[in-house]
Amino acid sequence: MSHGEQSQIEHQLEQLREELRHHEQLYYVEDAPVLTDAQYDAMMNRLKDLEAEHPTLVTPDSPTQRVGGKPAEGFTKVAHSRPMLSLDNAYNDEDLRAWDIRVRSGLPSTDHVRYVCELKLDGLSLALQYSAGHLQRGVTRGDGSIGEDVTSNVRTIKSIPLSLSVARLKSAGLPPDFEIRGECVMPQAAFRRMNADYEAAGRPTKANPRNAAAGTIRTLEPNIVAQRRLDFYAYFLLDSRTGDMLLPTQSAALEALGKAGLRINPRVATVETIDEVIAFINAAEPLRDSLGFEIDGIVIKVDRVTQQQRLGFTGKAPRWAIAYKFAARAGITRLNGVLFQVGRTGKVTPVASLDPVSIGGTTVSRATLHNADEIARLGVRIGDSVSVERGGDVIPKITGVVTPAEHPTEIVFPSACPVCLAALVREEGEVDWRCVNASCPARLRQELLHFGRRSVMNIEGLGKVMVAQLLGQSILTTEADDDAEEATAEEVTSEEATSEEATESAPVREPLVRSIADVYRLRKEQLVAFDRIGDKTAQALLDEIARSKEAPLQRVLLGLGIRHVGERTAGMLAAHFGAVQPLMAATQEELVRVNEIGPIVAEAVFDFFARPQNKALVEDLLSLGLTMKAEKRVTTTTFEGLTFVLTGTLPTLTRDVAKEKIEAAGGRVSGTVSKKTDYVVAGEEAGSKLEKAQSLGVKILDEAGLLSLLTP
Ligand code: IVH
Repeated sequence: MSHGEQSQIEHQLEQLREELRHHEQLYYVEDAPVLTDAQYDAMMNRLKDLEAEHPTLVTPDSPTQRVGGKPAEGFTKVAHSRPMLSLDNAYNDEDLRAWDIRVRSGLPSTDHVRYVCELKLDGLSLALQYSAGHLQRGVTRGDGSIGEDVTSNVRTIKSIPLSLSVARLKSAGLPPDFEIRGECVMPQAAFRRMNADYEAAGRPTKANPRNAAAGTIRTLEPNIVAQRRLDFYAYFLLDSRTGDMLLPTQSAALEALGKAGLRINPRVATVETIDEVIAFINAAEPLRDSLGFEIDGIVIKVDRVTQQQRLGFTGKAPRWAIAYKFAARAGITRLNGVLFQVGRTGKVTPVASLDPVSIGGTTVSRATLHNADEIARLGVRIGDSVSVERGGDVIPKITGVVTPAEHPTEIVFPSACPVCLAALVREEGEVDWRCVNASCPARLRQELLHFGRRSVMNIEGLGKVMVAQLLGQSILTTEADDDAEEATAEEVTSEEATSEEATESAPVREPLVRSIADVYRLRKEQLVAFDRIGDKTAQALLDEIARSKEAPLQRVLLGLGIRHVGERTAGMLAAHFGAVQPLMAATQEELVRVNEIGPIVAEAVFDFFARPQNKALVEDLLSLGLTMKAEKRVTTTTFEGLTFVLTGTLPTLTRDVAKEKIEAAGGRVSGTVSKKTDYVVAGEEAGSKLEKAQSLGVKILDEAGLLSLLTP
């Protein structure tokens, strides 16, 4: 290639990269994309192709290079330019007023004080170093003085720019070298997806988005981090060498960060009095459920840096800032009993049955006790009055004993499976007790419920009542069938869940189904023999089952419940192999070559298909007529270029299904309402998003309206 040709290609590459960076900025930072996902992907593919043709011209800050090198043996320790301190807390107005007085009395009486109020995002803090506009390093807080270099993972976070043009930095008032500190969070949607994936893969789920984010950022496989969709909000702009604030005020720093292309949270206010601070807090707290990510309070900072310096620090925290912590969403109630639920992987979870108590607007009558260790740690007994906490999106949990009962009953963790009576096993190093009987009806029950879910094989009618009947279990209660929907926090909080004992019972009749494959062998006369099942219901279920034979390969893979294989991984495997046979025959080396799949997942997939009974199950399903075709993405373009926001509970569609439908039609679903939003789809109990849409004059649809747009 001649010199001229080379520089022409370099130019073309740089142009494409700049364009992609611009669109990443619009999408991930400003939440105001102008390209559809498909257009963006096409542009990215053009860059990938061109880079593949000219591998020597690939630069580390290319948008194609977010997932790159791995930290081979853990993370290196790095000293911070200046310690990453924590904050003192305030819990009420009185604490805030006392702090305000301390601040003012620490400054000359002639000084004018301004406060910046920011959301206190509930994640983990990170320090990012930029040099000559390029992201050099991302470091965790660690012990405050020394953190861990997690650069390879930080690079996968799309709201963190890999490079910022010098011109842009200059116009924002930033030098080419600087340090940013901010909070890395996992949005609630990503958290739900991650836990659903974990659940599907039989792994212990994360208790809250903060733990999920913290665990993710320390994952040794950047491709897994990339899947988890972390987000980052900047709140400090520092000199990278000294760690001093770079600009004279915090408010100017936030503005400059925003201008430079970093994501800052737009909900900030610069105010003059503590009353205004309190007003900001009161206005912010009700937003908690609608932000899409968790906040646990408000951070208040003295705006002017010279004043911050004058106020200085106490031992571990600055005097010029304080964290107002929201009250935990907690309540106190009585523990009436404990049920032991057997999950799909055999894991036995103790679930507390409580006197119903209202916590942050939801009635809670069930809470998780996690495992035997947790029961011991809490020292909780039946009859005790206990504290119960609920996070934004999380299943309620018992956090402690408030008043022990006068005559308590010990909680006895069973030594045998409460359903099949097989001895429970706890493996070395694990906290969970498991039923390892592969044909345990409780496990099979969960497998079938999972298989039938909307997001898996979508077999309507294969809900709790039907599954119990198929397994020959008695139905003692008139439990509402939840129509094969995902288990959500609400499900556990609702009182309806108390009928679990009935459905967790041992078989009383010979089961009709002993494996997933048996579902495809069901005959009508068998179904109509059940209580409450008429000819029509039976036929409807059989039609659904027959229809599910056409389910694409990725759904079947998800339905098989392979460890570590959630929706996204199943999609990657299906797209790569195109059919189940080559996947079953794949070696671990072949599996690691699949996009986004690392050695841990590869091993799990390999192990799954190495077991003769799993292979036999797949063969069985094939012979029963399941097509298992890799899905060709059929995208219609009715919603091309349109942005939707979903809010509230829709009458029939879950949020995921509604999103899927919108995206399949070429639309995009965003979490925040802005002028750029085309439609807000509002269901029951829609809150601030609906109000915002109304105030901005954004078109509002209900579910029926959405569906009618989808079927023109
Ligand atoms: S300022 C020395 N601003 O809260 C100043 N922190 O409780 C410390 N956090 O470690 C940080 N949002 O992880 C600041 N807008 C915000 C924040 C924030 C969340 C976290 C951060 C910090 C912790 C302190």
